[in-house]
Amino acid sequence: MKLDIIAGARPNFMKIAPIIATLEKVTDKIQYRLIHTGQHYDKKMSGSFFEQLGIPKPHVNLEVGSGTQAEQTARIMERYEALLLKESADWVLVVGDVTSTMACSIAAKKLGMGVIHVEGGIRSNDITMPEEINRMVTDAITDVFYTTSEVANENLRKLGHDESKIRYVGNTMIDTLLKNKLRFIKPKAWNDYQLKEKQYFVMTLHRPANVDEESKLKNLIDEIVKGAREMPIIFPVHPRTAKILKGIGIEAENLHMIEPLGYLEFNYLVQHAFAVITDSGGITEETTVLKVPCMTLRDNTERPETITIGTNELVGTNPDNIAPFMKKLHQGEWKAGDIPYLWDGHTSKRIVDDLLKL
Ligand code: UD1
Repeated sequence: MKLDIIAGARPNFMKIAPIIATLEKVTDKIQYRLIHTGQHYDKKMSGSFFEQLGIPKPHVNLEVGSGTQAEQTARIMERYEALLLKESADWVLVVGDVTSTMACSIAAKKLGMGVIHVEGGIRSNDITMPEEINRMVTDAITDVFYTTSEVANENLRKLGHDESKIRYVGNTMIDTLLKNKLRFIKPKAWNDYQLKEKQYFVMTLHRPANVDEESKLKNLIDEIVKGAREMPIIFPVHPRTAKILKGIGIEAENLHMIEPLGYLEFNYLVQHAFAVITDSGGITEETTVLKVPCMTLRDNTERPETITIGTNELVGTNPDNIAPFMKKLHQGEWKAGDIPYLWDGHTSKRIVDDLLKL
């Protein structure tokens, strides 16, 4: 069996790492080719994840680089199709919800290949998010879904997908988290800002809805700085957010903006934090498993189990919502949380066992 594995942007890399490590044990049966689309290309957004997570050098890099949604989609489709026309595969395995996920699924499916979607079926029901469109399009042409939750299974059933296509296997991001937990690295910021165990916040913001409008971003950050009650806030800034922040010039004594961190450094900070504030989906899964309180600055989530089971709360994007959640946190009244079923570190093994039967 010839299998193409697609990775394009930062949140893909921790999802493919354990699948590839497991595939390495069965290369006599499954020949895989790792394709990096080049959607993310910086060392900080891409290279360091390959190094730290031991992901082999991609067989092919499509080097598409940055662009608008349509430009990136078009470039990825053109270049991946050209590669397939030279040397095809039987199946393409895509993960998550980024532009590379959707673009490669379409190119492969139109050439008659089977599509495997890891993390299929999740929905925010917010069509203004590019990721939601990527999920809907990818799932519409997927042949095999590997899912992370019963909610995802139910979404797929409602869409009319046959039960035989849906395989509830758990979460490959958590395979990576549990495998690396003892290797997390204390980042330089720890000493630079004299951080103390459970006495600082970690914050990440990069969703267009939060960061693309200067005044909105400023109001959100001002409210968070106030709510932190002088505790340090470590804010590794995504390139998209950095561009906007330059124009605003926010300063506060307890707000520390730093460059994006490597996987091992970032999760060290998360593991030892008092709480995390984010608009990322993946981070809410990691805080759930690490049992760190998490506030999500979004109005919806495609990962409801991080709230119903885990330590996450949906705060919304209105700055006025932040104070009551901060109060709860400072009063030590945050929920303890539990870990969703099958988020156990063995998901990639279940996926590869199943791939061998395709
Ligand atoms: C993408 C994903 C999002 C994911 C996020 C994680 C889509 C639609 N969105 O959003 O789901 O949560 O990645 O980071 O696929 N840039 C760099 N260096 C890089 C890559 C990008 O400086 O290595 C800059 C680009 O020039 C661009 C900005 O960062 O201005 C945004 O990059 P882009 O790939 O368009 O989307 P993200 O916002 O990162």
